[in-house]
Amino acid sequence: MIELAPSILAADFARLGDQVARAQAGGADLFHLDIMDGHFVPNLTFGPDVARAVAQSSPLPCEAHLMIDQPERYAEEFIRAGARWVIVHPESKGDAAGALARIRALGARTGIALNPETPVAAARELIAEAELVLVMSVHPGFAGQKFMPEVLGKFAELQRLVRPGTILALDGGINRATIAQAVAAGATRLVAGSAVFGAADIAQAVRELRRAAETAAAP
Ligand code: DX5
Ligand code: ZN
Repeated sequence: MIELAPSILAADFARLGDQVARAQAGGADLFHLDIMDGHFVPNLTFGPDVARAVAQSSPLPCEAHLMIDQPERYAEEFIRAGARWVIVHPESKGDAAGALARIRALGARTGIALNPETPVAAARELIAEAELVLVMSVHPGFAGQKFMPEVLGKFAELQRLVRPGTILALDGGINRATIAQAVAAGATRLVAGSAVFGAADIAQAVRELRRAAETAAAP
């Protein structure tokens, strides 16, 4: 089962509701919300109010990808805004383990994200307890960067480490050309920003990504 998670970072924010609806019509499974604080990454995006607007504009679930320091301080706000998964970076300044405990206590699902240069072994304990692991295939901070295939080897390691049922996600530079490698490597949830919202026909772009992913997944 392949899940497609369009990242609204690449959407036209003046028409967000419409763009979310188009991605949903194309068969998106959930929405990916990129939260950046200008500290952990050199960019700023949006906070819980925009997250809530997306969560309320579609029946599809949302995941909040927190590229912020001190994720333990903000996780709750994104859960209250409607995020079903909250994904934190162990590389951030702060208490990633405390954030995961908080997320779990509030009834949401826990995720760990790994920067391209972070080895799986560096976050072994957090990964083993998370319900989702997100491998970054670009340096976090911006949509529209080039896919880094060198991170794909992490999936084989993750498959040995995680509990059955853990979602293995890939984020960054995924498009019709790169999605096959991602699926072949073992990613089951694919995040795509520019490939979806940069397309002239957003719904069609989601359908084409799914077709490319499913062709790769076919035995
Ligand atoms: C990068 C974000 C990604 C990004 C993906 O920091 O975490 O989710 O929005 O955008 P594309 O698909 O354009 O690389
Ligand atoms: Zn992301």
